Amino acid sequence: MNERAFIIIKPDGVRRGLIGEIVNRFEKKGLRPVYAELKELSGETARSHYGHLKEQVFFDELIAYMTSGPVFAMIVEGRSAVANARSLIGPTNPVKAPPGTIRGDYGSDIDENVIHSSDSLDHASREIQLFFGRTGLLHKL
Ligand code: CMP
Repeated sequence: MNERAFIIIKPDGVRRGLIGEIVNRFEKKGLRPVYAELKELSGETARSHYGHLKEQVFFDELIAYMTSGPVFAMIVEGRSAVANARSLIGPTNPVKAPPGTIRGDYGSDIDENVIHSSDSLDHASREIQLFFGRTGLLHKL
């Protein structure tokens, strides 16, 4: 089924010049970018995005990382976009991510794991509203 998924190339990915390479992998998989913004996250947005992790010991470090430079946030469209995006990026911990996945090829530590992808359509909808201020983007531009 055709879906839209929400992706964030995190500050380390942007800093290292990986936007083109990563977008290319989504395009080759048949996931077409339909909207994107290069933007600096406020602390408030980052804390809201990761609100479910606020009790974790790494929370403050995670917020500092996500606000350390611009992120490239995008919506991609294609068949089973949420599940396909998550298999392209690989497991959260780059140490465990197989070669061939984005985190497996470009990440080296869980603290800076290059990329985020929403784990469900519901979360994609919430994250799109938070990042772009428009839920409608999940369905149609
Ligand atoms: P992400 O998929 O964006 O979702 C939660 C983020 O928390 C994760 O990627 C990592 O960037 C970050 N994180 C940092 N340390 C840990 C940890 N020990 N376990 C899980 N996530 C972590």
